[in-house]
Amino acid sequence: MTTPSFVYNSVPQRVVFGAGSLQHLAREIDALGARRALVLSTPEQRPQAERVADMLGAHAAGVFDRAVMHVPIETAREAREVAHRLGADCAVAIGGGSTTGLGKAIALDSGLPILAIPTTYAGSEMTPIYGITEAGMKKTGKDFKVLPRTVIYDPELSLSLPVAMSVTSGINAIAHAAEGLYAVDSNPVMDLMAQEGIAALGRALPALRAAPKDLAARSDALYGAWLCGTVLGNVGMALHHKLCHTLGGSFNLPHAETHTIVLPHALAYNAEAAPQAMARIAKALGGASAAQAVYDLARDNGAPVALRDIGMKESDLDLACAHALTNQYPNPRPLARDAIRALLQNAWEGVRP
Ligand SMILES: NC(=O)c1ccc[n+]([C@@H]2O[C@H](COP(=O)([O-])OP(=O)(O)OC[C@H]3O[C@@H](n4cnc5c(N)ncnc54)[C@H](O)[C@@H]3O)[C@@H](O)[C@H]2O)c1
Repeated sequence: MTTPSFVYNSVPQRVVFGAGSLQHLAREIDALGARRALVLSTPEQRPQAERVADMLGAHAAGVFDRAVMHVPIETAREAREVAHRLGADCAVAIGGGSTTGLGKAIALDSGLPILAIPTTYAGSEMTPIYGITEAGMKKTGKDFKVLPRTVIYDPELSLSLPVAMSVTSGINAIAHAAEGLYAVDSNPVMDLMAQEGIAALGRALPALRAAPKDLAARSDALYGAWLCGTVLGNVGMALHHKLCHTLGGSFNLPHAETHTIVLPHALAYNAEAAPQAMARIAKALGGASAAQAVYDLARDNGAPVALRDIGMKESDLDLACAHALTNQYPNPRPLARDAIRALLQNAWEGVRP
């Protein structure tokens, strides 16, 4: 096999990884040159946000705990206003993709640097992609202003993530790496990260399901999430992400569960057109087929495998198919209406691909 032509961008971003690494927070805020950090969280994670604010002492401007899924424009405006009023010169986002997303909405408007402390495996902290929802429509964009400058990955903070959410969030991460392996703008560095990230999560999810407080399993999972998130931030995604964006946005389906259910079917759709990527995914998961290995990882660890089980109506599948076909986008196998409709039917029924 010869080395293909490629373009590789390296992005300046600092990652501090390891159990207990939250202790370095003050040092990292100082390294950013910041003096007054606004700490962001969801309402549920307010206790963690308060702990972070306590650690920052005089360098904490306050806590804003209203992060919710999909970053409604009203919440973004309110958070920007609070950041401005409190004279914040940096945002610390502790939580999952929703909280990081709120930090990004503030950064987009103000240029404030973000320090992210991820507590799920979604990967938003490694990407310059933001999303804001206005009048029911989620608009996404890409701007390096919103890429967190520093990321502290402390697996101890993910010990409290419920097992069911851990499994679906982990497969959400695997989806970034899997599609990265067949991206039109892929490169060998991202391929290495993708394969390693899938393997780490493939090991970690069964282990953390058996022992949710196992720090070694949590560390493996967060390490995998970092690698997979990096792939998402560096190369373009394809059919799977488009389908999940459509299903989440138009039918209000939960983010990580939707990714978990659709991924095996999107991989089956692309299997023949992207054999090398499939071989790498299958190898990373120790299975014979990429699609089946992902399906089995979900099913065997108690995750949902059917769209009908997470609130999708069968009567909406035609509309979902039509949405998925609007605006052609790069995908290894061309988008064909009947085949996409069959994919959605299979995902709805939860059949093993
Ligand atoms: N822009 C990007 O690159 C990107 C990438 C991935 C996801 N996203 C976005 O992120 C959102 C989904 O993020 P998510 O899946 O991380 O979920 P989330 O951030 O919505 O979190 C889900 C729930 O889990 C709670 N939680 C998080 N960590 C916890 C922990 N350790 N212990 C206990 N509870 C915890 C949160 O407080 C919240 O209630 C979606 O809106 C998605 O579009 C964006």
